[in-house]
Order: sequence, then structure tokens, then C-alpha cells
Amino acid sequence: MTVNSESHAIESILHESRLFPPTPEFAAAAHVSGEAELDRLRAEAEADPEAFWADKAAHLHWFKPWDRVLDWNPPFAKWFDGGKINVSYNCLDRHLGSWRRNKAAIIWEGEPGDTRTLTYQQLHREVCLFANVLKKFDVKVGDRVAIYMPMTPEIAIAMLACARIGATHSVIFGGFSAEALRDRINDAGCKLVVTADGAWRRGTEVKLKAAVDDALTQTPSVTTCIVVNRTGSQIHMQPGRDHWWHEMMETVNDDCPASELDSEHPLFILYTSGTTGKPKGILHTTGGYLTQAALTTKWVFDMKDEDVYWCTADVGWVTGHSYVVYGPLANGATVLMYEGAPNFPEPDRFWQIIDKYKVTIFYTAPTAIRAFIRWGERWVLKHDLRSLRLLGTVGEPINPEAWMWYHQVIGKGRCPIVDTWWQTETGGIMISPLPGATPTKPGTATKPLPGIDIDIQTRDGRSVGVNEGGYLVIKRPWPGMLRTIWGDDERFRKQYWDEIEGVYFAGDGARRDELGYHWIMGRVDDVINVSGHRLGTAEIESALVSHEAVAEAAVVGRPDEMKGSAIVAFVSLEGSRTGNDELKAALREHVAKEIGALAKPDDIRFSDALPKTRSGKIMRRLLREIAASGVVMGDVSTLEDFSVLEKLRTDEE
Ligand code: WT7
Repeated sequence: MTVNSESHAIESILHESRLFPPTPEFAAAAHVSGEAELDRLRAEAEADPEAFWADKAAHLHWFKPWDRVLDWNPPFAKWFDGGKINVSYNCLDRHLGSWRRNKAAIIWEGEPGDTRTLTYQQLHREVCLFANVLKKFDVKVGDRVAIYMPMTPEIAIAMLACARIGATHSVIFGGFSAEALRDRINDAGCKLVVTADGAWRRGTEVKLKAAVDDALTQTPSVTTCIVVNRTGSQIHMQPGRDHWWHEMMETVNDDCPASELDSEHPLFILYTSGTTGKPKGILHTTGGYLTQAALTTKWVFDMKDEDVYWCTADVGWVTGHSYVVYGPLANGATVLMYEGAPNFPEPDRFWQIIDKYKVTIFYTAPTAIRAFIRWGERWVLKHDLRSLRLLGTVGEPINPEAWMWYHQVIGKGRCPIVDTWWQTETGGIMISPLPGATPTKPGTATKPLPGIDIDIQTRDGRSVGVNEGGYLVIKRPWPGMLRTIWGDDERFRKQYWDEIEGVYFAGDGARRDELGYHWIMGRVDDVINVSGHRLGTAEIESALVSHEAVAEAAVVGRPDEMKGSAIVAFVSLEGSRTGNDELKAALREHVAKEIGALAKPDDIRFSDALPKTRSGKIMRRLLREIAASGVVMGDVSTLEDFSVLEKLRTDEE
């Protein structure tokens, strides 16, 4: 197995003995209180998983109860089949009959400092209005709607409006390029696009509508585009196709009952990178997804009515779907939402926001924590963070050093940290401490949640022993699991279920220590994790090869202190072309245009040839070693041309 950080992880296990049990006060007030209760819940779920999940699903509002908890026809699962439910109803209407009607659902702050607060009642009204706008443009049950928006309340309103009428949304992160947007719109066959003129990021405008205009020249399925006025900049509005959000909202009424949808109705598609050049449209459905999102929000974040909860993820990623929008709102929580960058206007923006709104629960990415460490403690110390009671991380392994800094400098040694492992495909958190129950250890996501059956296995399906590395697999279906890859059941089967017999293959390497705690060691496939975002090396390679100067490209990750992985591209050029700094800059820009700035290689190395096997397969393992340390230690017996290695090494000097 090729896990770059393997030796580092072993080191960590050997030396990491610090344990942080929950304080008695935290445990006493928590939804799940103490390890004994958590163990009891695990045992209960283990004994009868379907009864366990049925009990959790019953906390939601169902228009009609399900006929069957689980229908498992591997690899296809149906959860709560026959049941009728609506996600928007559960996130909004359900709270209107209680005092929560006038509770803040979303407290929002824009990057320039403008703010808005929407109560559950107000959010409900906006969602109903926008759902009626969608209907006006003939969006029907099962139609797909693309959402390419800034982090403003309208992104949540658009998603909830889709959910309300049974349209399937596909949110595309605003950092993706016009080309990436076009491909995703076409793959899902979206009928309508919701966007904004632009978004604020570090004081400058990200021009969203201009990218949409480019994309929509090649998207035959799109008939309508609704545009939020966010930045007020000059944009092109195409007559007949483009309409302003605020104008359309005035043409409809706010009466829009939630549709009674099948539990397995497609709620959303979210694209994520895989091992080929084509992103996968991960499909999530309704009843099971919401059951897991709601339960994990309540348990992992110990969500209470009094909390002000802030997850810093962009809604364009799955974390934003499950833990900015659906999970928290299903719990009637108060969600803080911030539009912009953590270091604008200065590196203390997050701490200032926590102080200003008295945030109690804060959920962010290890890469952000490492940036805060670099920016320095003084930015943190300027603000009062005493409101915080719980911290969380997601997206990549957190190194124990960053964990300790988070614990001490942000949490002042008082706040439990939940390190949550999950994926776009799992829909919700799978491995995590429960803050009132699990003694935590820096660097490990600890144990699977009740009802989640995880193992670490070899390729041939044998469970590995204590501290032995293996592949992370999931042995039993879970309610929030992806149902398929949109339009490609075969790829779904191959990618996740054919790798190791009878189990879901997560694509991560892991080991379990003597406490039964899980240490995630990173991807084992050609996917790299850059600042907590997943990128397929094949996608970046095909972007590079589409440039006229490039003959061949191989992309690998190199361990990076800040980003987790940095992107290194080995490129061989067409015929007489020679590599220079100008071409490097042009190639970086080309990748940004094809995919988005997040995929720009950090390092481009030109080479006459790439190391290949006799059958012509690029040996990425060797390139990874060269990128990381400049030398190749591993087995090279299958290499076709040894001189290539020598050249790659000398090119570096
Ligand atoms: C991959 C999934 C799920 C939300 C964000 C990323 C890595 C995620 C952790 C963690 C170690 C983690 C894994 C996983 N990952 N959380 N707590 N510790 N690694 O979603 O883009 O679908 O990526 O992120 O490698 O497979 P995603």
C-alpha cells in the first residue's frame, strides 16, 4: 500500500499517549453522556441495526411511515422505502409550531461586514417564495437545478426550495471554473441555474455570472438562470433566459406546501473527484440522508437550542450540505454563516466573528488550523473566545501538533475536539468522538459512531490486527450512503464495491491502535487531498494535456505542511517546445481555467520522458518519491527505461 505518511503515522501512534477525557460538567449535560452510554448505544445498534436506525428516523416528520427500514440489494440500498417525507418540511415547517418560529435559523455575515439574520419563520417564507419561483419556470419533481453561488443565505434558500418541491439540486463550488461548471451541468442535465453576479473573496469580486455566461453557451438543457444581486457589479443579462432573484420573488406568493416525496427521492447530486478524469456525481436521497445528518449533528456537535454553531465549510462541499444546511436546520439550530476569507481584512476575522456572535461550536479544517498557527497566536489573543464550548475538524488527518494548538490556543484547554472522518459518499459523519463520552487523542478520529460498521482489511478481505495498516471499509449499509453515481451504476459498483468483496471501499488507508481508535492515513488511490479538498490526479493531468504544448503529464501529491498535499506535475512537452517559467505560469493558468484555481499545480517539472512500466503505465509511485524526497528508494524492477529516473533527478538541480 502506498501511503505517503505511513511512517509518520506509525511514529505518531508510538508517541501519542495523551488522552483527553470529557470534563464531568460537559459529560453531564451532553446528549450522549459518558463512555458507558456510548458503548450501550453501540451494542444496541450492533444487535439490531435496523431497529436502531428506525428509532432515529422516527425523530423526523414523516407524512407516511415507511414499509421497510432497509432493502439491501447489494450494492443498491433503499432506506425507509414506502415512507413519504420532505427535507424542507423537516428543516423549517416543523419548527414553526413551537417557540423556535422566532429563533434565528441563519445569522449571516458578508465579507464586507454586512449582516442579516433570518428566523425560522423568515427563512420558511423565503424558501416558499423561491420554490414558487422555481415552479413558475416549470421546474418539476425530479428536475435538476444547478446552484453556483456565494456563501449568502440565498444558497441555503435555493437548496431548501429545491428540496421542498422535489427538484434535485447540484451545488457547484464557486471556485470551479466555467468549464468545470459546464461539464457538471451537462452531466446532470440541469434545467435551471441559480447564481449571483459575484461573490466577495479577500476584498475582490469573484465573477460568478461571467463564468455562468461562458458555461451556458454549451449547456443545451438549461432554459433559465436566476441571478442574485450580491456585489452590484455590471453583468450581462440575457433576455428570456436570465432573471433577477429579487424581481422574481415579487411575482409569486409565499404559499407552497412541501411535497410529500418518497424516502428514496433524489435530494442532491454532488460532484467529487475520482481516479479518472471525469468527476463522479454522488447521488444522495431523502429519508436516510436526513436521518443520519440530523442524528450526527445532534450527537457529534452535542447541539442544543442555546448554541450558536459555526461550520466554516463552503456550502459547495458536502460538509456545507450536511453540516451548514440540512443537519443543523433539522435540529432547529442557530447556524452562523460567513461569506469570505479567514484573513480579510486581517488574519483575525474568524476570532472576531466568534467573539461578536458568541459562537459556541466551531467546526473547521486542519488546513485552516495550520494557517492560523502560521499567522500567529496574537491574532487569536485579541478576542474573547470564552463562548466556545466545542471544536471540530474535518477533511484530512489532523497532525497532533495542530490538534494541540487548537485545543490550547482556541479551546483554552476547555473544549473537547471532535475529529470527524467521513466522505462526500457517506453523506454524514462516520467515525468521530462524541464530545461528552469519548476520551480523545490528538490525531485520531477515534471510533465509528453507533450503527456504523467499519473495518480495516487487506485487499483480500482479511481484517488486520492492532496497529497494522490496511484499507478502510464499511461492512454494512448506512442510511446516508450514496445510492449511486449519477447515470453510472456500473462505475458505482466498480469504484466502491468491487475492490474488496462484500464491503464498501472508502479509498483511505487506516490502522487501529490498542484502544480501537482509528488513524486515517490518507488516500490509497490516485486522489490527493489538497487543503481538505479532494482532487483527482487524472483530472489535472487531462487539463494539462489539453494544452497545446503538452505531450504527456503525470500529477502526484507531495506532503506539504500547510495544505496536507501539494500538487506536483511532471510534464513532457510536444516536439521542439522547451520548458521555461513562462510556460509554467501558462500551464498553471490553463489548469485554473479548465478546473479552477484550487487545482493549480504548486510545482511543474519538465522532463523528456516519464518513468513507465513495460506495459506503458506511468509509475506514479516513483514520481511521488521524487517529488517528496528527490530520490527513489522503492522497487524499480518493472521500470522500462532506467535513464529516465536519472534525468528526472538531475533536472531538479
Ligand atoms: C476524504 C473525503 C467529508 C467532508 C470533507 C471531505 C479525508 C475526511 C477526515 C478526517 C482524516 C479525513 C479522507 C476521506 N478525510 N475527514 N477527519 N481525518 N481524513 O470530503 O472531499 O469527500 O473527501 O477526506 O481521505 O476519504 P471529501
